[in-house]
Amino acid sequence: MTEPAPSTGSGQALDQAVDEAARLIFAANYVVALVGAGLSVESDIPPFRGPGGLWTKYGEPDMRGYDRFLDDPKQWWEERISRTGSYQELVDALAQAKPNAGHLALKEMEDLGYLKHIITQNIDNLHQEAGSRAITEIHGNRTKLRCLGCGRRWPLDQFAIDELPPTCPDCGGIVKSDTVMFGEPIPRDALDECLLQTEMCDCMLLVGTSAVVYPAAGFPVDVKRNGGRLIEVNPNETPLTDMSDIVLRAPAGRSLPIVMSRLREMAGAR
Ligand code: APR
Repeated sequence: MTEPAPSTGSGQALDQAVDEAARLIFAANYVVALVGAGLSVESDIPPFRGPGGLWTKYGEPDMRGYDRFLDDPKQWWEERISRTGSYQELVDALAQAKPNAGHLALKEMEDLGYLKHIITQNIDNLHQEAGSRAITEIHGNRTKLRCLGCGRRWPLDQFAIDELPPTCPDCGGIVKSDTVMFGEPIPRDALDECLLQTEMCDCMLLVGTSAVVYPAAGFPVDVKRNGGRLIEVNPNETPLTDMSDIVLRAPAGRSLPIVMSRLREMAGAR
């Protein structure tokens, strides 16, 4: 069977694509959203790639960030506390960002049972602030700390930093930001949960991700290989566009609320 050409997102075609997306989500058993920085662009947090991206402006980061941390965790902490770290533009944007209509639509999809889990590459905590609950943060969370020894996590405001580098009260391991550094392995608990969610998923929403960073970019390929469907929500093409069953070629903050309103209509008509 030839795969239907992905629906595009221009004008009235977007309406049709949104209807198709809502029908697919309504009929699916286990919808998972794979989220990238694009979802938070409408919360004024710059993406990494493409127009206005941090890597576009400043170049790809040094992939040895984690190695440098391990070489001198005390210095890393001193730089962080004195806020002389890099990407101050991102730090400032993160500090004042609020969830946008796209985050809230995903939260409502979860509330009404249409969305089972969010795998997010974002560290901005905006899913939690929007009220979503079933979340795995494959790249960590900027508002948390994590022990490198036992993997225990704390909210920033529940860990007293009285030595540099801070150490874990349970195992004595070094404590760092929960945000996964470049070159740092994905924490095992988060990766295992992503693989489990991907295994159960029969419809994956690809929301605001350029799909170039692994292992996250591989999850949609696994869903497709397992016979699942893909819905891309992105104003731009990505390497996953051609394998997507439906493409909402529009900003997430605009298209996801319309999908959610179609789902409400369909639920009401049940
Ligand atoms: N709505 C939906 N998608 C959008 C929007 C929007 N309003 N604005 C931009 N996008 C899309 C872009 O077209 C792009 O495809 O969001 C995507 C952002 O891509 P990236 O900046 O590469 O972000 P992401 O895919 O999350 O990057 C993955 O790379 O550097 C690492 O750790 C970083 O988690 C990040 C990972």
